[in-house]
Amino acid sequence: MRKKIVAGNWKMNMGLKEGIALFSEISELVKAEVKGDQGVIVCPPFIHISSLVQSLTVNDKLAVGAQNCHQSDSGAFTGEVSASMLSSAGAAYVIIGHSERRLYFSESNETLAQKLDAVLKNNLIPIFCIGETLEQRNDGSYFDVIKSQLAEAAFHLNEADFSKLVIAYEPVWAIGTGLTASPEQAQEIHAYIRKLVAEKYNSNLANDLTILYGGSCNPKNASELFAQPDIDGGLIGGASLKARDFVDIIKALDR
Ligand code: PGA
Repeated sequence: MRKKIVAGNWKMNMGLKEGIALFSEISELVKAEVKGDQGVIVCPPFIHISSLVQSLTVNDKLAVGAQNCHQSDSGAFTGEVSASMLSSAGAAYVIIGHSERRLYFSESNETLAQKLDAVLKNNLIPIFCIGETLEQRNDGSYFDVIKSQLAEAAFHLNEADFSKLVIAYEPVWAIGTGLTASPEQAQEIHAYIRKLVAEKYNSNLANDLTILYGGSCNPKNASELFAQPDIDGGLIGGASLKARDFVDIIKALDR
């Protein structure tokens, strides 16, 4: 059975006090309103992770994740944070390969392959992001782009490790722009990702893989997107900064 997940990516937003307040608001709403066994993940800036983890209670349906990590366990990498540190702080997930990391921090597929290894080695779950730019969408190369992002960064993993991944399809042209991929456009790529995984590994693994959609997902469009057969939830940026919107998106998994 595929796990349904909604993950919030706070990006570089929220001071500590505001972050704790938002997290507790989300936690209360999730407790009161989210009935199923969906996964709900909040990915704040690094510096808030341990505070949010400490505020979790045993019956919380929430998990905390990071937005990035370094590929080494420790060493002279000023300003960086390793997967083992995230694990020691209580994070359970790490977003790897977000398009903003690829674009502004020059993260290549090769580096991302190493980051996936580091995350898995530390028993954290990677939320691995792939997606094409507007130019690649328009020139028709987007299927090849998706294929090479997957193959170059993740297809070195053995079957057991690959099966732990959560994949997020995030068309770069839809992130933070208000331009959402149509349910049909998103479904087409999600089905394609599943096909590539079935070809590389096997169809059971492909069927069980959780594939999230990300890019201007909001309470209005979430139900239609999540109703697609190969869309198993969302990676939410802007709308995850408002507790009400974020929880309404989670509830759209049930519809
Ligand atoms: P957005 O961001 O929901 O604000 O478009 C999604 C993301 O970058 O993960």
